[in-house]
Amino acid sequence: MVTTRTNNPAQLNHILILSENPQTLSNFYRDALGMTISKSKDLLLCEAPQRRVLIGQGASHELGYAAFTFRDASGLASFREMLRATKTPARPSPSSIFGSEALAVMDPDNNVLVFGLPPSGDSPISDSPDARLQHFAITTTQLEEMFEFYTHTLGFKSPDTVKDEQGAMRAFFVNSDEEHHSIGIFKASEARIDHHAYDVVDWNAIRDWADHMARLDIQMQWGPGRHGPGNNLFFMVHDSDDNKVEFSTELERLIPPRETIVWPYAPKTLNLWGEAYLRS
Ligand SMILES: [Fe+2]
Repeated sequence: MVTTRTNNPAQLNHILILSENPQTLSNFYRDALGMTISKSKDLLLCEAPQRRVLIGQGASHELGYAAFTFRDASGLASFREMLRATKTPARPSPSSIFGSEALAVMDPDNNVLVFGLPPSGDSPISDSPDARLQHFAITTTQLEEMFEFYTHTLGFKSPDTVKDEQGAMRAFFVNSDEEHHSIGIFKASEARIDHHAYDVVDWNAIRDWADHMARLDIQMQWGPGRHGPGNNLFFMVHDSDDNKVEFSTELERLIPPRETIVWPYAPKTLNLWGEAYLRS
């Protein structure tokens, strides 16, 4: 089974998070992630090199959209063609970060996925250390339908799934390039944002970001630990809306051939080192 998307890679570029308190939430990302805040139409744009989060007024814990870039125009064109072949409706992109060539699709939970090209003259200069927006995770009540959409309709590949003792899928991860996952999807009692994650350079950077959070009195909520799927080191904090924010390093880079791993639905899958939380 092919578990790595090596043809036409795409990478997470930005996400829109909705909030009942957009200003407070953007202040969190300014302070905790070293981002500058500016206006982008009716949204607040928080950005630093390699990381960009838009925040808009809405129900907290909802993903407004997640936006991916292909490497060049031919990548976007072939993705558009694939959607046409599978009769998947493409709609105009809602992102003001991308140009008019971008498009959007909607998953079975009505999450919007946007696909475009890297913006020219990207992020502003910042003294803040590296932390690249790398993946996001959501919860869903209809995991099988979501698996079908992300793997068959979008053509992402799943290197790891999590199944319970009855054989029912409880979580899956999909990649859009050689990195283990750019999206994680967990079965739960409601559909919402689960977390989003920043890739840092190494274990020392994990320490430095944790020290930075400590100076801001932002408590670590989970970790440090090592995930089973992806094998990445991580810790998590909560933003001002209680969304989980992950710092991660050593995420597996998939080298074909890589067989699918089916992980047991157990705390150790989520944290090889110790404590974990199961979403359902
Ligand atoms: Fe994660």
